[in-house]
Amino acid sequence: MPPDDPRYERYPPGFFARMDGAADGAFYRHPRLVAHIDDRAIGAVGRLYRRLGLSGRVLDLMSSWISHFDEPPEALVVAGRNGAELAANPQARGGVVVDLNDHPGLPFADASFDAATCCVSVDYLTSPLEVFDEVARVLRPGGLFCVTFSNRCFPTKVIQGWAQTDDRTHVAIVASYFAGSGPWDQPDHGYDGPPDRRGDPLHGVWARRASM
Ligand SMILES: C[S@@+](CC[C@H](N)C(=O)[O-])C[C@H]1O[C@@H](n2cnc3c(N)ncnc32)[C@H](O)[C@@H]1O
Repeated sequence: MPPDDPRYERYPPGFFARMDGAADGAFYRHPRLVAHIDDRAIGAVGRLYRRLGLSGRVLDLMSSWISHFDEPPEALVVAGRNGAELAANPQARGGVVVDLNDHPGLPFADASFDAATCCVSVDYLTSPLEVFDEVARVLRPGGLFCVTFSNRCFPTKVIQGWAQTDDRTHVAIVASYFAGSGPWDQPDHGYDGPPDRRGDPLHGVWARRASM
């Protein structure tokens, strides 16, 4: 649950509760070397990263064995809950195991990344404003943080505020995380879904670390 922080007052009671409120260690103990979205949606993530020009030293947050870049950036660092998943990531230059719900801090220096990503995972964060603060801290001014999501999840681990709302509200929820943390420039968003609606939709919300 989020700490006693007035920034969370805009969210209703129970918003960050989860069906499985236990620490995340047990749930993520065994690696899941699977794709969490279909091939078309994976392609949509790569297209978005290319369109946004993500390059240089990039942090993939809540990462696993797959980071979805068409062309890997010069130096990709992955951070996630399962070390075996991170070690199997062929695009990564390095990885760190973190539990962002236990400790939202990131073990990186200020302004040490050019961009950051978080794919199909933001819905598991129980202290998102602290995590977004930390991403802003480790990004250089002008660096982009791109958050993508679809409509699938681990139902016991997703926050209730996400589980009980639709895709359009999910875009607003991520935009509210940017608005409540930072400093960030105004966020933007995009949608890349299957033309026949069969398959996984892909939404993105992104913002640049403000220059101050
Ligand atoms: C649905 S998977 C997505 C993995 C990857 N980003 C992708 O696009 O396939 C969710 C990921 O979030 C990570 N995760 C879940 N809870 C976490 C936590 N408390 N701290 C850090 N990472 C976490 C897990 O390690 C897992 O790999």
